[in-house]
Amino acid sequence: AIEKTFLMIKPDGVKRQVIGDIVNRFERRGFELKGAKLMVASREVAEAHYAEHADKPFFGELVDFITSGPVFAMVWEGESAISLARTMMGATKPADSQPGTIRGDFATTISENIIHGSDSAESAEREIGLWFGGELA
Ligand code: CMP
Repeated sequence: AIEKTFLMIKPDGVKRQVIGDIVNRFERRGFELKGAKLMVASREVAEAHYAEHADKPFFGELVDFITSGPVFAMVWEGESAISLARTMMGATKPADSQPGTIRGDFATTISENIIHGSDSAESAEREIGLWFGGELA
């Protein structure tokens, strides 16, 4: 099915100047960019985004990191966009992220891992609403 997904280049990816490389990968794959913005997330948005991790020991560190500088928030659309984007991102654990994937090419740590992508249709809808509100109606 044609899906929309929320992808976000994290502050480490923006600092590393790999926005263009990452956007290019999704364009080449055949996805359509529906919206994008460079922004510094508020603590409120960051905490809501990571609400499912609120009980984890690394929650504070996660919110500190994601608000530490600009992120590049994006909505992409295409066939099976949610799962295919996750495959292109690579695994969260550095030891498992394959070369050729975004994390496998650019990241070596579990916390500073360059990119976020929605993990389900429900997450995608929630995250697009949270980060873009009515902007993409
Ligand atoms: P992401 O997939 O965007 O969503 C949850 C994030 O939590 C994940 O990326 C990692 O960046 C982060 N994370 C997961 N496990 C750990 C951990 N053990 N320590 C720090 N951050 C973590």
